[in-house]
Amino acid sequence: MTGAWRPDEDDQQRGASGPVRVRVPAKINLHLGVGPLRADGYHELNTVYHAISIHDELTARRGDTLTLTMEGEGAGELALDDSNLVIRAARALAAQTGRPAHARLHLRKQIPLAGGLAGGSADAAATLVACDALWGTGLSRDDLAAIAAGLGSDVPFLVHGGTALGTGRGEAVSPVLVRPTSWHWVVAIADGGLSTPEAYRELDRLRDTGDAPAPIGSTDALLAALRQRDPAVLAAVLGNDLQAAALSMRPTLAATLRAGAAAGALAGIVSGSGPTCVFLTRDADDAERVAGELTAAGVCRQARPAHGPVAGARVC
Ligand code: C5P
Repeated sequence: MTGAWRPDEDDQQRGASGPVRVRVPAKINLHLGVGPLRADGYHELNTVYHAISIHDELTARRGDTLTLTMEGEGAGELALDDSNLVIRAARALAAQTGRPAHARLHLRKQIPLAGGLAGGSADAAATLVACDALWGTGLSRDDLAAIAAGLGSDVPFLVHGGTALGTGRGEAVSPVLVRPTSWHWVVAIADGGLSTPEAYRELDRLRDTGDAPAPIGSTDALLAALRQRDPAVLAAVLGNDLQAAALSMRPTLAATLRAGAAAGALAGIVSGSGPTCVFLTRDADDAERVAGELTAAGVCRQARPAHGPVAGARVC
């Protein structure tokens, strides 16, 4: 690691003097293969992450203490104290680089809370990138991703973005290198959230009682489909082991998935641990149309077109 803070140095000489604004995307999992429960309480994963064009924005300004304010999705519902992943991320970067965690942070949220789109993890990734620029700590993406892994399984991916393979508990990320293709999605956001730990526990329970579908297994078919660049081919191999758990906890999601199929989406899956559902469509026009039909069907709080892959947390 580089960039240790020296107390005799004028803070204004390093880093940004004005506000630093960072945009960070939501993620979906094109493939979420969940293995057995490990001794550390996490499950071994085999996943393909994909960053999509629904963004949160974090602004970092100089300050004498560490403060957080927020607006947008979930404002008023989220604690803004030391339990918040944004505050934890700022403190983790400060501790790692030996400087005080002083910043005024403001979050504008569009990614729903507890929606299966890794909104909290995205905000943590944005904080690492923003504070690195504000404080002039000059860490590499890989250095930031290493700190990110201590904050949550999805956080390293949101530092990098794009489409990437995730292994271990999800924190070991390597980019999927394919010719650039934009995929067009509809994101159906539900009322209320689902707890990720509860979804994993529910999957374990369904597996114990023999009520879970067979595991989706390796990512080989998904990676081959990405190389073919044909949405109909990709649609046939999307999969999520947590979907059975999300449907068991929130049976009404079955109606959302059916409505997407009826609207002509190529495929629909629960995103991560849910309750957001994502639908793959042929192109941008098709995504607009499917989003309109899902909204009209009244099966979700909001249906939004989105495209991917997009970059991870970036100063804008
Ligand atoms: O890593 P993160 O804090 O986002 O994970 C939240 C919870 O989700 C974990 O405490 C665990 O219950 C569950 N989880 C899991 N296996 C993973 C990732 C998360 O069981 N690979």
